[in-house]
Amino acid sequence: MADAYVPGLEGVPVTESKISFIDGKKGILEYRGVPIQVLAEKSTFEETAYLLLWGKFPARGELEQFDQELRSHRRVKYGILDLIKCLPNTSHPMDILQACVAALGTYYSARDVADKEENHRSVIRLIAKLPTIVAAFERIRRGDEPVRPRDDLSHSANFLWMLTEREPDPLAVRIMDVCLVLHAEHTMNASTFGGLVTASTLANPYSVASSAVGVLSGPLHGGANEEVVIMLREIGSVEKVRPYIEELIRAKTRIMGVGHRVYKVKDPRAPILQRLAEQLFSQKGESPLYRIASEVERVVVEHLGAKGIYPNVDFYSGIVYDKLGIPLDQFTPIFAISRVAGWMAHWLEQMERNRLFRPEEIYTGEHDLPYIPLERR
Ligand code: ACO
Repeated sequence: MADAYVPGLEGVPVTESKISFIDGKKGILEYRGVPIQVLAEKSTFEETAYLLLWGKFPARGELEQFDQELRSHRRVKYGILDLIKCLPNTSHPMDILQACVAALGTYYSARDVADKEENHRSVIRLIAKLPTIVAAFERIRRGDEPVRPRDDLSHSANFLWMLTEREPDPLAVRIMDVCLVLHAEHTMNASTFGGLVTASTLANPYSVASSAVGVLSGPLHGGANEEVVIMLREIGSVEKVRPYIEELIRAKTRIMGVGHRVYKVKDPRAPILQRLAEQLFSQKGESPLYRIASEVERVVVEHLGAKGIYPNVDFYSGIVYDKLGIPLDQFTPIFAISRVAGWMAHWLEQMERNRLFRPEEIYTGEHDLPYIPLERR
């Protein structure tokens, strides 16, 4: 047994993987060896998901087949929609998503994780159905009926359609698609690890994905994008940024959307999101939040840059979703809609050479204590 305790497992490898790569000092992120900037510019979510899952770019026919499979599995059972209707409409959408993803496992017999064909179907179902669940909750909590998915639309366009029942605008679709590409995978992050711990027990893939959704929901991970917009709204104006941020730093309070366990420079996904945001504002009008965010970045880097604290992916994503008219608490579910591709790629990889995760702890309590009868305590 190793005797060094490493808090938060920082720097401790928990697996070997060919799926993605980060160089946190140089600000490099690659999926299957392909730089994220290239994928953001040239690929689509469907193609990127295929690349992550099966380790190569699909040929035309393979992509068409994968896309077709996704389109044909978008619908969810009435029971899932009924479940959403039964849960409080004041719930956080991530809690709804976690419950519904676990509930998907009650409909599909995926308990034999050695069955490769069933595993393939599970991966398709999860990627195809998460957007439907997220959009359905949004509709139901507003008192509307869920909008049926449309087979003639791409993954991103269909998601925007199901959210709004309006024909999606091409720029919004492209921006949503790039956001899904950017969030699809990120090496051994907390939610992927959480999912893999569940996977290592040979639990079914719906339990794997619902565990990962739960892990993603926290504000130190995927929940940060929501917190960033809350903070920017609270700051309210560019002039108030410096005193606000300096007070957080003085009080040693975490600033949301900055800092990262691996990146010690600016997250390479953040400038891509910034460019998307600027494109969006040039077409749909400026966002005061963006000006506040740029100033927050300046003040944070001035004070904390030497410690390697720079904006992470969550810093600019929320501003983009806000401008697209998406409600604040749906930002993290959108992260999940995308990251499920990475979770499933890791799940398939782990199923090839699984070993149960069963780490150690260092016991710091006492030993051999006597039992004290209740009346003498
Ligand atoms: N604001 C202020 N200071 C920070 C921040 C921050 N956001 N992040 C780290 N620091 C400081 C810490 O106070 C600490 O300073 P010290 O050495 O003087 O005590 C130092 O940087 C190291 O901090 P750790 O907590 O050890 O760093 P860790 O690797 O555990 O934290 C984390 C990574 C959790 C992401 C952190 O940066 C954070 O809380 N950020 C805000 C939440 C956030 O944006 N999360 C999204 C991450 S990206 C994603 O999951 C998609």
